[in-house]
Amino acid sequence: MVSLIELVRSHTDLDEDDVVWLQLLQADWQIIADLSFADLVLWLPDREGKGFWAAGQMRPTTGPTAYVDDVLGTYLPRGRKPLLDLAYAEGRLVREGDPEWRDDVPVRVESIPVRRDGRVIAVVARNTNLLGVRTPSRLELSYLQTAADLTQMIAQGYFPAPGQRSDHADSPRVGDGFLRVDAEGRVVYASPNALSVFRRLGLSGDLAGLPLAETTRSLVPPRRRPDEETLSAVLGGRAHRDTEIGTDGVSLIVRAVPLRPQGTHIGALVLVRDVTDLRRRDRELVTKDATIREIHHRVKNNLQTVAALLRLQARRMDSESAKAALEEAVRRVGSIAIVHETLSQAVEETVDFDEIADRLGMMVTEVSAVGGRVRVRREGSYGVLRSETATALAMVLTEVLQNAVEHGYDPDSESPGAIRVHVERTPGQLSVAVEDDGQGLPDGFDLDASTSLGLSIVRTLVESELGGRLSLGPASPGPGTRALVEVPVE
Ligand SMILES: Nc1ncnc2c1ncn2[C@@H]1O[C@H](COP(=O)(O)OP(=O)(O)OP(=O)(O)O)[C@@H](O)[C@H]1O
Ligand SMILES: [Mg+2]
Repeated sequence: MVSLIELVRSHTDLDEDDVVWLQLLQADWQIIADLSFADLVLWLPDREGKGFWAAGQMRPTTGPTAYVDDVLGTYLPRGRKPLLDLAYAEGRLVREGDPEWRDDVPVRVESIPVRRDGRVIAVVARNTNLLGVRTPSRLELSYLQTAADLTQMIAQGYFPAPGQRSDHADSPRVGDGFLRVDAEGRVVYASPNALSVFRRLGLSGDLAGLPLAETTRSLVPPRRRPDEETLSAVLGGRAHRDTEIGTDGVSLIVRAVPLRPQGTHIGALVLVRDVTDLRRRDRELVTKDATIREIHHRVKNNLQTVAALLRLQARRMDSESAKAALEEAVRRVGSIAIVHETLSQAVEETVDFDEIADRLGMMVTEVSAVGGRVRVRREGSYGVLRSETATALAMVLTEVLQNAVEHGYDPDSESPGAIRVHVERTPGQLSVAVEDDGQGLPDGFDLDASTSLGLSIVRTLVESELGGRLSLGPASPGPGTRALVEVPVE
């Protein structure tokens, strides 16, 4: 699909400011299409003065479209649509008495010159599918009157309002709630939806004739109001702006478009939208996040308590082996706590695992008998992992590193050691090789036959929890041992 800017550059003489103006117009023209029950097409005059390019199109959400096909990017030579030529040449609104027939659909066509800085820079064609037009109700008459005021403003160069771009996704639409106020800010007409919105705010009677700003002020508690100036400017219909107000139970966005078809302020169109559900969902998401983080924080604290209890118990043990076993348990609990600590600081349920891995590496060497002699070095990056994967992988890494430190090096020797953790993350797969340059596996070692606790934990976690593979063998080139963990990741 071609963009406005592309069309402007390749076919027209319009400048940067013209483009900004047209973009502002397009940011708001849904309102005009909806109020008119009509399709809008933006036509740009070409450089040679031979025709127009369709640079934008907007269908009404309030009525049937007059265009089944998209017209964007099409070219219309002069003479084909005299109304368009006339509106552009004379700079005035032009309207045909008789409808145009398109495939058995009567379409009323009007042309609105778009004026900026005194010059006509484009033409908006308004096409109403007359099959959708019924005997007008008050709502329809109010819509059409307001649409007429806005199109006048386009032709006079008063609309769009410079610098007042509103492209919030939650900006109110005509169908959400439409009010028309007069020059004093009194309600002339309120659509049924607008009335319902104000009823939800606590209004009991009708809105007609009431000053909108004061009425709203009486319904909305001060802490849910914007400053006084914004409130009276927006709800009084004096400023082209939007604001958010509400009560404890209801949140609204209010948007005002002041009307001055002939230059003097005659009132405004005010759109209101009940965004209570949207805001509640926003809040729920925030609290859910905070709750998850708090849970991780508490799990970490609980794990630290458990570790402290085990440590206490270990000190009371007479048997050296029992002491060692409890200290191992302390370490295992500690590595899970590290993961939860990281998760408690993360906003999402995923973690950058590099930091966790590096902290585990430090923890394992610090508490071991080989102390500062052996260093752990990471190559490559784990990237971001889901928290379940991270928890299991942290345990696996702790055990494997612990084995390298504990079994690879002689605690009585002085010679330094290096443990290399080589990480490779490809789409769908994470592979971690832990290689030490120690004394190697005992003769006849068989992973499948091994029944000791450490490797059993590792194998269970890698195979069942992570759905991956574990292998253990000599490092190549040796000396030393290489543990390879391969797991599928998202
Ligand atoms: N990097 C390594 N270098 C040398 N031997 C290793 C290495 N990794 C494992 N081993 C051998 O594998 C055996 C089994 O390891 P495993 O972790 O299952 O038990 P463990 O470390 O002896 O006790 P724990 O249950 O406390 O971990 C070890 O006793 C050791 O002989
Ligand atoms: Mg072990």
